[in-house]
Amino acid sequence: MSKLFNLIRPLVFSMDAETAHGAAIRALSTGLMPHACPIDDDRLKTSVFGLDFPNPIGLAPGFDKNAQVPNAMLAQGFGYVEIGTVTPRPQQGNPKPRLFRLAQDNAVINRMGFNNDGHAAVLKRLEQSKKRGIIGVNIGANKDSTDRIDDYVKGIETFHDIADYLTVNISSPNTPGLRGLQSKDELSELLERLNETRQKLDSKTPMLLKIAPDLIDEELDDITSVCMRSDEQGRMVDGLIISNTTLSRDGLTSKWRGEAGGLSGEPLFESSTRMLAKAYKRTAGALPLIGVGGISNAEQAFEKICAGASLVQLYSAMVYHGPDLAHTIAQDLVKQLAQHNFNSIEQAIGSNVDKWL
Ligand SMILES: Cc1cc2nc3c(=O)[nH]c(=O)nc-3n(C[C@H](O)[C@H](O)[C@H](O)COP(=O)(O)O)c2cc1C
Repeated sequence: MSKLFNLIRPLVFSMDAETAHGAAIRALSTGLMPHACPIDDDRLKTSVFGLDFPNPIGLAPGFDKNAQVPNAMLAQGFGYVEIGTVTPRPQQGNPKPRLFRLAQDNAVINRMGFNNDGHAAVLKRLEQSKKRGIIGVNIGANKDSTDRIDDYVKGIETFHDIADYLTVNISSPNTPGLRGLQSKDELSELLERLNETRQKLDSKTPMLLKIAPDLIDEELDDITSVCMRSDEQGRMVDGLIISNTTLSRDGLTSKWRGEAGGLSGEPLFESSTRMLAKAYKRTAGALPLIGVGGISNAEQAFEKICAGASLVQLYSAMVYHGPDLAHTIAQDLVKQLAQHNFNSIEQAIGSNVDKWL
């Protein structure tokens, strides 16, 4: 934890979680937050789906839903930033309170419900900011949409030119029915429509799919088999992101544990890493995977990589450790690689997958 965050943490924790998040976004958008020293270490550099990442630690979507501070987060030490989820039309999301800190469990519960400014406003913001690194755009569907697949088509059309990669998010637990798109038939239809759109646009922007941690083995089999299908244009998706928040509440002690929504942070680490390892085994390393869920230090980032992740992301641990956590993790990840006699991230990917199976 940085000295600055240590100092202001009592103030941050005196606010409710969503107010504190808003204050963080405002502080970051002033450009006055101290930057982390850039990390330039060849062992952390990695190329995945045609993009060159300075380090594998990404900001998970949900923190910067509206692309207000992507450059500021890159300056905090993240190797890439995923903004969103963005829906075609702006929407308010669920009534407040809808974001809860579970400090005793190092966790967060949210039922934000895709509150965001909508495609047009977010596109304008991205166009106006001079990009200083890799920025992915996470797309979703409006809650009251009558054609959800069309909402994702619009997301591809709107952002394919400006995004370094696109994430199709069908795993938020806070939009009723959305997770149904993970079923074999709905997923096939969704991905076929999206690939038709990409072909029409002649878009080469990588497209990833973000899935839930609460899937049974047969559901994961279906998803990976649909994603691995390929034609002359390539595979149905360029990678998988594992995972979104969980509906499970196992082992929690905090007062807010009964709140509805998705749980993230430390209690998600095991189940999301197990799901990652299973997906790695099923895709035999042919599909790059991004490991997300419960990462708060370099050991855990390294565990995800050894379980099959080419890249990782985090969000909840920043609530407890501050925005420059990525910088600390990236620095310590170099030590993890050295301790295990790896010279690069690539060498470590999937090296300990069997531990999780
Ligand atoms: C407040 C909050 C909002 C989130 N919003 C989104 C979102 O809009 N889209 C999305 O794909 N994931 C969203 N997530 C999920 C995160 O991107 C991530 O998958 C999850 O929190 C697990 O990572 P973590 O344990 O490091 O937080 C959100 C998470 C939190 C805590």
